[in-house]
Amino acid sequence: MPNWLNDAVFYEIYPQSFQDSNGDGIGDLRGIISRLDYLKELGIDIVWLSPIYKSPFVDQGYDISDYYNIAEEFGTMEEFDELLAEAKKRDMYIVMDLVVNHCSDQHEWFQKALADPDGEYADYFYFVKGKDGKAPSNYRSYFGGSTWEKVPDSDKYYLHMFAKEQPDLNWDNTDVRTQVYDMMRWWLEKGVDGFRMDVISLISKNPDFPDGEVKGLYGDLTPYCAHGPHVHEYLQEMNREVLSKYDIMTVGETACVTLEEAKKYAGEDRNELNMVFQFEHVELGSGKYGKWNDAPVDLVQLKKVFKKWEEGLEGIGWNALFWGNHDQPRAVSRFGDDREYRECSAKMLGVCLHLMKGTPYIYQGEELGMTNAGFENLSDYRDLESINAYHELVEEQDVPAEQMMTYLKKISRDNARTPMQWNDEENAGFTTGTPWIAVNKNYKEINAKAQIKDPDSVYNFYRKLIQLRHEEEIVVHGSFEMLSEDSEQIFAYQRVLDDTKLVVLCNFTPNHVAFDGLPKKAKIVITNYKTEGGSFLRPYEAVAYKVPVEEASDK
Ligand code: GLC
Ligand code: CA
Repeated sequence: MPNWLNDAVFYEIYPQSFQDSNGDGIGDLRGIISRLDYLKELGIDIVWLSPIYKSPFVDQGYDISDYYNIAEEFGTMEEFDELLAEAKKRDMYIVMDLVVNHCSDQHEWFQKALADPDGEYADYFYFVKGKDGKAPSNYRSYFGGSTWEKVPDSDKYYLHMFAKEQPDLNWDNTDVRTQVYDMMRWWLEKGVDGFRMDVISLISKNPDFPDGEVKGLYGDLTPYCAHGPHVHEYLQEMNREVLSKYDIMTVGETACVTLEEAKKYAGEDRNELNMVFQFEHVELGSGKYGKWNDAPVDLVQLKKVFKKWEEGLEGIGWNALFWGNHDQPRAVSRFGDDREYRECSAKMLGVCLHLMKGTPYIYQGEELGMTNAGFENLSDYRDLESINAYHELVEEQDVPAEQMMTYLKKISRDNARTPMQWNDEENAGFTTGTPWIAVNKNYKEINAKAQIKDPDSVYNFYRKLIQLRHEEEIVVHGSFEMLSEDSEQIFAYQRVLDDTKLVVLCNFTPNHVAFDGLPKKAKIVITNYKTEGGSFLRPYEAVAYKVPVEEASDK
């Protein structure tokens, strides 16, 4: 792990929704450049850019048609170089999204494959003969329907775990791996500082494609496509050939990862990745309809997940910490309270996450306590996963339309994709044109301009949190231990380094919750209330204090 990663804080930019500079309603590179000072001021060290490559945007840029070019919507390669240079000037690092489990069906490799389904390029993908006049297996795609699409004028089908416009690349083909490594080197030579690797846990598949266990209309692909037979071999090869040659960082988006698998991807002695995103804490409510649910957060379960990951990777690997990203609803709407206690609970969530062991990732707007979109109509949604799921569940699985709209309001990825709220002017200062997706109606109350000025804002609280990580070694290196595991109200843990203990208490409820009070020698390092609460934690109160280890129990 490069040493600049140690106490670093990440910020994910979703380019189409960050800042538009030319009034076409779509965020762009020039917009990002104009906001680098904002990020620097917040304390951000590393920016993870969601994909900016050329793409038909079927899946918002996660369908790449040319890995060597910038999407026209976002700007030019010159502007990208300028962004890199401007970031360097500010001592900030730029990490690219690497989407190589699949590409776009518009990529020339796939076009060549279609033109000759038995030729060289067909083997860049999974072109597989059907069985008894049907698809090769029963898998359900992550975005609905079968993972198999018929290749026109052929008896073959091609595999797509996501949309049919996102054909999976065949990593068992050495040429594919060589092409990917060349492309990675090309970006690294330009000076990018690393990669967030999209669904990297899915790149190796069981080549027999056995039918999966049927759930609903289709079979589950996970056992045959996640952490497949060669995934670690390929990542070690990638590390040997590319990653190890540069002073860079990597984080893998490892869908379906277990702790045991994570130790392989991110174990310090493994030479694969620096860290991985696990998803158990954001998948807790999943059930009968997959991710679509409106179950409240179960705090005991939530803590179990963090305990497992924090304690489980201790001394073995490094955690990547997040409440939200471009695929998840807004943190404050999901884990806090986006009404009466919005600011207080957003700060509490910040404390809870940022003082754990690992690298925190802030998703754009989280530092303002931005909330879910609140869309009332299906036509407001832009995300194909959400729209497909609506049709599948309402039309094929008899979920009442109203119920599905509730699920969308809670879980849809578009909740996080509404434009960044910069100020209280039209379209929240995001664009002078018509935004590609509607701005959240609450931008007059929730926006960066107002919060920068207000010392008590969520924004300024996040600044303090980031500063704390930069200044306090215990936040970076202290060991982690979960406390009060059975409490249904309080998320509590402690960090220990040498003779100091950092205790973190977070009330996840709108109620007053009794607790023992702070020990006499406690020195508060951060809290979201202005006065001390005595023997109660107040609604969504968070308090973190340091205390000498031997006096920790001395009241
Ligand atoms: C990842 C991305 C998501 C995308 C999917 C397919 O999960 O984060 O946005 O839809 O991969 O590329
Ligand atoms: Ca634009």
